[in-house]
Amino acid sequence: MADEETAGPCKYEEETAQDTIPSKKARRDFGSFHSSNADELIRLSKEDYDPPVIPFSLPCYQSGDHADLFGAAIRKSQFCLSDKITFLNHGAFGCTLRSAMDVAQKWREYCETEPVSFIDRELIPHLVYVSRRLAEFVDCDPCDLVLVPNVTTAMNCILQSLARTMTSDDVILFFNVTYGATKKMLQYIKDLVGIQLDEVKLSFPISSAQQILEMFAACLKPNTKLVIIDHVSSNYGIILPVKELVEICHERGVLVLVDGAHALGILPISMRSFGADFYTTNCHKWFCGPKGTALMYISCQHHQAINPLVVSHGFQAGFNSKFIWTGLQDYSPFLALHTVLNFWQQTGVDEMRRYMFQLVRSAAALLQKSWGTDLLADVSLFGTMILVQLPADILGGGAPQITYDHAELIQNRLFHDHHIEVPIKALEGKLYVRISAHVYNELDQYSSLASAIVDIKSKRILL
Ligand SMILES: Cc1ncc(COP(=O)(O)O)c(C=O)c1O
Repeated sequence: MADEETAGPCKYEEETAQDTIPSKKARRDFGSFHSSNADELIRLSKEDYDPPVIPFSLPCYQSGDHADLFGAAIRKSQFCLSDKITFLNHGAFGCTLRSAMDVAQKWREYCETEPVSFIDRELIPHLVYVSRRLAEFVDCDPCDLVLVPNVTTAMNCILQSLARTMTSDDVILFFNVTYGATKKMLQYIKDLVGIQLDEVKLSFPISSAQQILEMFAACLKPNTKLVIIDHVSSNYGIILPVKELVEICHERGVLVLVDGAHALGILPISMRSFGADFYTTNCHKWFCGPKGTALMYISCQHHQAINPLVVSHGFQAGFNSKFIWTGLQDYSPFLALHTVLNFWQQTGVDEMRRYMFQLVRSAAALLQKSWGTDLLADVSLFGTMILVQLPADILGGGAPQITYDHAELIQNRLFHDHHIEVPIKALEGKLYVRISAHVYNELDQYSSLASAIVDIKSKRILL
């Protein structure tokens, strides 16, 4: 196999057929591993690829062509959520499918029947198999996709790799709605290598994606090198128009890194159509995968520039190889993603999305009607999380300036007194509730939230 540092862009397309034949050298790249090199398996065409046999049977799911499959029914059958809590905060840390956890446990037990044989001979082909299926789901070449434990890891990996190629003249542009930890990563690399940071300040309320594009385009500078886009903003809930933003950036030669932490499951993802240079998404959020599962897409011309945070046996054995093994750890959450894929595909991706989108919109309308308030942005800009303003007088007349403390106080009241788990946000001097809707939610749960807020307001406890 060619040394990756000496290969040119899109090297896997340029290498000779001989390079793709599993070789002893490739095996040596993985220490004692007796399985083929990951890059060789990932490069095989669909026709030539022979997937490994999963050593136990996987669960089957009922198709979602009738609405009563969702709500309480699916909550009971597929999730572990407690009946004691009205759970409206899927956006925080997701919620894992019960059967995916069961299957992860089966992998753990299978591993321990013969740990050396499993890890040395079977694990990497199984990781490749699940990567290939996931690549198909997000419409990309499997060679461009790697498994990572979470979006935070992917963002660090990409930003720290790119920082090595940047100078103090270079600008990284991000949005005010960008995830807080990403802003800290940017500060970290600014301190490290002296790049400049610029922020697109989206001012709310926003009525259309076009408005976002205009505000964004005005912020690009000749020395902007990289733009960071949160596909779905965590604090604001809005969906940014990724494809159009990428087009604007690429016209000016600017690289684009998309943080799609909240996208997988709720939005159709097509890496081919988005055209971003880098895209990362969590499997453990809206996709309901086991905790510790995410994807990182790197378009082929950047394979050499992006390196893992953890260097191990696969380094210099190809792009996928350098990411696939980060030392001995529990890889079963990744292997359980077969089950999560089956859940979405067998239940019906479109039916599930339709349920979530309709529910969150009905819920937002219900809350707006109950409280007489507005949304943070036009409803068309939201996905499965919507921010609805709380009644303006929830803190009583002549209330002080709204702060994060007020939001926290109300969130705690909702949790402790009303057993409702939902985040309250203090944004632009106003208080909002960010509701989430997944397949296990139902409209009644949002009615409880509407009444709880009316109750909190009537007790004037916040004054
Ligand atoms: C927009 C966004 N990016 C990144 C993350 C980090 O995800 P993780 O903790 O899985 O790395 C989150 C988490 O909520 C998020 O909302």
